[in-house]
Amino acid sequence: MTNWSANACVNRIHDVDARFDWKDVDSSQFASRDKSFMLDLGSKGAGDVMIRVKKDSSLRIRPGTPRNVPTILRMIRGLAKYERLTRDVKATASRLRQHGFGRQPYFQTLICWQGPNAVGFALYFFTYSTFLTRPTLYLEDLFVLPDQRGKGAGKALLAALARIAVRRGCGRMEWAVLSWNTPAIRFYKRLGAGLRKEWILTRLTDVPLRRLARSGKAKWI
Ligand SMILES: CC(C)(COP(=O)(O)OP(=O)(O)OC[C@H]1O[C@@H](n2cnc3c(N)ncnc32)[C@H](O)[C@@H]1OP(=O)(O)O)[C@@H](O)C(=O)NCCC(=O)NCCS
Repeated sequence: MTNWSANACVNRIHDVDARFDWKDVDSSQFASRDKSFMLDLGSKGAGDVMIRVKKDSSLRIRPGTPRNVPTILRMIRGLAKYERLTRDVKATASRLRQHGFGRQPYFQTLICWQGPNAVGFALYFFTYSTFLTRPTLYLEDLFVLPDQRGKGAGKALLAALARIAVRRGCGRMEWAVLSWNTPAIRFYKRLGAGLRKEWILTRLTDVPLRRLARSGKAKWI
């Protein structure tokens, strides 16, 4: 796995090909200073922004809702299959519903629609950069259905994420890509993302995780 950061990506959001429905976004999560940014991109009304269109497109991007959980699950499985990691998927609809749309949401989603059909999705959450003292938008999943690729959905999703990152005052967008996934790597490079090969993804799960949780000599105060 390789870490990517996409500071440059946010400067290229004029290129996207989809309409992003801000009316579906909880606007209270955005600071008011961000409005100037919306205006920069050509606000068409209180909650609806038409991004400058490069080519004719009927793609639409909307935040996922609890009704979209089956779609999100299908996309997660599709991504896992593409990444040859199907055996690792333990995802369930009920946990997605609880963790994405419950009392304490852990993630958010964007879904790209072509007419009534979901063609792609992105799942993201926020981490924090102490070096920048700014939040980071962390992209966990990006997936476009195989027969819908190359039509702008992936770029539109990333552009919408970049807009959210800018609005939320993030210093970075960041994600990991498998080292063999050269089509995706080419795609990210073209957006201006930088490869962080010196960082190694580090993971603790299952037995070692539980063993560590039980250990430790210091007391919680
Ligand atoms: C990677 C992925 C999300 C890209 O989405 P997409 O909808 O196919 O990409 P787009 O149509 O938006 O393409 C955007 C740009 O990238 C270019 N591009 C797309 N696929 C490319 C490829 N394989 N190689 C080089 N460039 C590519 C397009 O030409 C386009 O450039 P342009 O704007 O200058 O015309 C999609 O192909 C996918 O889901 N792949 C499988 C899963 C995956 O790899 N996910 C990412 C895991 S980190």
